[in-house]
Amino acid sequence: MANDNIAIYPGSFDPITNGHVDLVKRTLRVFDKIVIAIATNPEKDRSLFSVEERLRMINEVFADLAGRVQADSFQGLLVDYAERKHSKVIIRGLRAISDFEYEFQMAMMNHRLKPQLETLFMMTGESEFYTSSRLVKEVVSLGGDVSGLVPDNVLQKLKQKFKR
Ligand code: PNS
Repeated sequence: MANDNIAIYPGSFDPITNGHVDLVKRTLRVFDKIVIAIATNPEKDRSLFSVEERLRMINEVFADLAGRVQADSFQGLLVDYAERKHSKVIIRGLRAISDFEYEFQMAMMNHRLKPQLETLFMMTGESEFYTSSRLVKEVVSLGGDVSGLVPDNVLQKLKQKFKR
């Protein structure tokens, strides 16, 4: 695997949405392998789903691409994790202008920490432009329907969490 072109796609994925799924599939047109890396910070964790639940949901979604898509979690700096994984590329999705400042800051900081690591931005697919994990959770918690915005297994888990 040392010669493979591996991209790291980091995030919270709490939970994974169809926007993330679309981005992973498009990234696979360019890279051999993508590691979906859930960043964890036990001291500041306000996630709805545990890391294990998030890993399981991602693995279910990409079961047919298991050789090319790997789900993992990490603590500490993303740049160190990418180095451990022998990857030189971080993938991030960009939805709208509002994402830009946050993403720009992170890309610059990561570049300062490890200049040999590049951040590549992928535009989110048009049908997922307004989808975010945060909004999806809010809508389900208030009784709204998010089918089509998240994979079916995630939809079921969200309904269980909020007893809908
Ligand atoms: O999905 P998110 O919450 O927008 O993802 C943010 C994430 C996980 C990519 C970012 O918080 C991160 O990289 N965390 C790992 C710790 C780290 O390296 N922090 C410095 C970032 S410049």
